[in-house]
Amino acid sequence: AQRQEVNELLAPLRLTLPDLEKVQALMRQEMERGLGKATHANASVRMLPSYVCNTPDGTERGDFLALDLGGTNFRVLLVRVTEEGISMASEIYVIPPPIMQGTGENMMLQMLPLGFTFSFPCQQVGLDKALLLTWTKGFSASDCVGKDVVLLLRQAAERKQHTALKVVALVNDTVGTMMSCGYDDPKCEIGLIVGTGTNACYMEEMKNVGTVEGDQGRMCINMEWGAFGDNGCLDHIFTQFDKLVDESTINPGKQRFEKLVSGMYLGEIVRQILLEMTQRQLLFQGRHCTTLQTKNIFQTKFLSTIELSNGLALRQIRAILQELELDASFEDSVLMREVCQAVSLRAAQLCAAGLAAVVEKMRENRGLDTMSVSVGVDGTLYKLHPCFSQNLQKTLKELAPNCNVTFLLSEDGSGKGAALVAAVATRAGL
Ligand code: BG6
Ligand code: GLC
Repeated sequence: AQRQEVNELLAPLRLTLPDLEKVQALMRQEMERGLGKATHANASVRMLPSYVCNTPDGTERGDFLALDLGGTNFRVLLVRVTEEGISMASEIYVIPPPIMQGTGENMMLQMLPLGFTFSFPCQQVGLDKALLLTWTKGFSASDCVGKDVVLLLRQAAERKQHTALKVVALVNDTVGTMMSCGYDDPKCEIGLIVGTGTNACYMEEMKNVGTVEGDQGRMCINMEWGAFGDNGCLDHIFTQFDKLVDESTINPGKQRFEKLVSGMYLGEIVRQILLEMTQRQLLFQGRHCTTLQTKNIFQTKFLSTIELSNGLALRQIRAILQELELDASFEDSVLMREVCQAVSLRAAQLCAAGLAAVVEKMRENRGLDTMSVSVGVDGTLYKLHPCFSQNLQKTLKELAPNCNVTFLLSEDGSGKGAALVAAVATRAGL
């Protein structure tokens, strides 16, 4: 009887292939709406133009600064692009020593072009003009929404008398990741982030981008797919747990897809399920547990460790749980692992449904029966979780059988890609 109750509780989280196909079709529909001149105002997937029209071609050269803001870390990078390849020095929160401790000439005479990875939705009107549409992922700094983020950065640099830098390009982290991986693989025409937040970008035909003048060539589109479903189109898949998680965020009703998929929220979904299970006496023999009441107690790391453990290591789970002052029995640990698996599997499958919509659209755009494409990927959930990437890839094969998709892990972060965009912008004399 207990088993049946658990199954019933988890059933809404278990998506079938037809469920996922429906999500894929809805994503496709929202993509079309986001791209259309007349329809984009009402689309939940914004499909923002990036003004990046080419992936790297290997002829980029020079020294660049890059800032990378909006994931777990804030990074400052010095990127050198030469014939031999790319070398980088990066620091978190501090100016890289090559600049800080370099020669005065380096500091003052050399005006370094700067590429800025800014991982939030921006309405771009050019490479170096980007109005912040809204904050996401728990950010809420005042007086920024509606402002040109490039201008804000320039003004901040002036205030600090950093006169040796010139902000030439702003890119989303998806775009930076695609460019970064694109330097090594010309087939990389998609960028994917599954970390604190989730989002994707891809190369779209200009003739399909109704929101920008011109029909020639392609442009990279920052989808902002985290907001997929904000218009209600995914309401049928939200569970009571997802609703509770959404309500407790600083942006209820917003970023609904992101709240099902990304690292910032999965632990919270798990916690809501465990709370319900405790209440129904399915866990901890129904004992009240204060730890479970604590918001954000389960980090993505926790899901990863708990799912990694096979039968033998269940003892380790109990040890972790005890650290959290959760006195779990063997059965409790097994059940908790099942919950984590259900939540992370759904996340990977939904992410695959989104990606399937993207690759299928690209394939159709190009009039191909089958297409090979690479995806540059970054983000702590994708990188650290033991099964996320496998589940994503397996589901994608099922949903987009005519596309042969290779996943490239971005090793150096998206700042490298931002520097490459800055390189192209500098060369073009923009
Ligand atoms: C980093 C990129 O490696 O990954 C960032 O350089 C990106 O631009 C980040 O935002 C995403 O992952 P997370 O887990 O830090 O949100
Ligand atoms: C959020 C941001 C988006 C970013 C993503 C991944 O969804 O809105 O711009 O790409 O997180 O970091």
